[in-house]
Amino acid sequence: MNDDNRSGRNDTYTLTDNRHGQQVELPVAAGTDGYQVIDIRGLYDRTGLLTYDPGFTSTCSCESDISFIDGKQGILRYRGYDVEDLVARADYMDVCYLLLFGDLPNAEHKQIFRKEITYHTMLHEQIYYFFRGFRRDSHPMAVLCGVVGALSAFYHDALDITSPAHRTLASYRLIAKMPTIAAAAYRFSIGHPPVYPDNSLTFGENVLHMMFSEPTEDYHIDPAMTRALERFLIVHADHEQGTSTSTVRMTGSSGANPFACIAAGVASLWGPAHGGANEAGMVMLDQIGSKDRIPEFLARAKDPNDPFRLMGFGHRVYQSIDPRSRIMRDTCHELLEELGVHDDPYLDLALELERRALEDEYFAEKKLYPNMNFYSGIILRAMGFPRSMFTALFAVARTVGWVAHWNEMIEDPTRKISRPRQLYTGESKRPVKPVQERI
Ligand code: SDX
Repeated sequence: MNDDNRSGRNDTYTLTDNRHGQQVELPVAAGTDGYQVIDIRGLYDRTGLLTYDPGFTSTCSCESDISFIDGKQGILRYRGYDVEDLVARADYMDVCYLLLFGDLPNAEHKQIFRKEITYHTMLHEQIYYFFRGFRRDSHPMAVLCGVVGALSAFYHDALDITSPAHRTLASYRLIAKMPTIAAAAYRFSIGHPPVYPDNSLTFGENVLHMMFSEPTEDYHIDPAMTRALERFLIVHADHEQGTSTSTVRMTGSSGANPFACIAAGVASLWGPAHGGANEAGMVMLDQIGSKDRIPEFLARAKDPNDPFRLMGFGHRVYQSIDPRSRIMRDTCHELLEELGVHDDPYLDLALELERRALEDEYFAEKKLYPNMNFYSGIILRAMGFPRSMFTALFAVARTVGWVAHWNEMIEDPTRKISRPRQLYTGESKRPVKPVQERI
């Protein structure tokens, strides 16, 4: 941790061990904004005690300058810029540059950066053979896990993680190729040929082009779709130490190559409690089916004996509405309006479900509000993306965040391999019996 503790004070926190009447003072450190932390790095050496925090509900795993979340106020900032401002005044390439390099690019830097990323959108031609090895009905996230991990078998020229040039090249390759891989996974699933990226298009336009254009006819890219996709990409770009980002950091702490680290992030994102919630949310809306069944499903969500949860609701950090869900909800309305869709059944049901949940004291008491995934699936469906592609598109957007955190972790001079301990509750020492004596 930076020794220049930003509070400027030498605050400490005293722990008292009532068993032996011992006390230990631990430093309290402050970041730029948000929580203060008790620095427990010396705790074990000084007390022989470990801390216990499964799920890391009260634990900071690292120091970071990239994103800031205030869960109580419902604030998300990338490098100090509110996500709402970035959606209104920047595009996804601006945000990628911001997350990687710490500030927004000027016109010249943006042009150079956009060319760098665009230059790396193609895949090595042999990689397309991988797609043929999957069943056509494979989930795109399964294909993404496999193909992203396989990139390390192709790009040996940028695997020295101690080389800033190698790290930058691998970072650009990952950001640029993720949409090409995701789109190719979709195209193979429908038996259509993969569409190569078009360097004259923007990042978002290329995603639409590679997903939906056909080699046999012209494809018109609808600006309304591009606008909606740009917002989707921006709000999904980073989110401090979410499970998949922490997975990337933990994997990278062993010195694993960047492609393996991002493949680990893809795998972690797939879970329905995390990035898979956008797909699971649409499945849930299908299960609910109509507004008159909402009370039944709200009751199930509140029943401690029922594993059913409202997909797209709740968040480890947000104790108020996720600012991204507001942006996604507004984008839903605007896109459907621009597409001439006036009564989308999913949006109607989602709005009513949100209204009923926000009025319900269970959700208010547990501070369960819609998160980003609640509306994002409705937008992607309106744009024509199949439900199985929703989390893959989340991965496309989040790759820049994963890569930014991976670089920040590698560049941290205090970097150590992440190796948590455990509270052992198994058997104590016991002798091995000969097999004939075992019952
Ligand atoms: C993302 O971390 C990030 O930043 C992630 C993300 C990012 O950008 O990277 O923001 C993206 O993953 C958003 C979250 C998407 N997941 C979902 O929408 C799935 C549904 N939500 C939940 O499974 C849950 O809310 C989590 C996983 C998001 C958060 O879980 P926590 O913080 O571990 O909270 P918890 O499971 O301990 O729940 C606290 C209480 C429990 O009740 P009690 O045991 O206290 O009685 O709230 C209840 C839970 O049962 N609860 C829910 C609920 N979420 C929590 N009850 C009903 N429906 C829900 N959705």
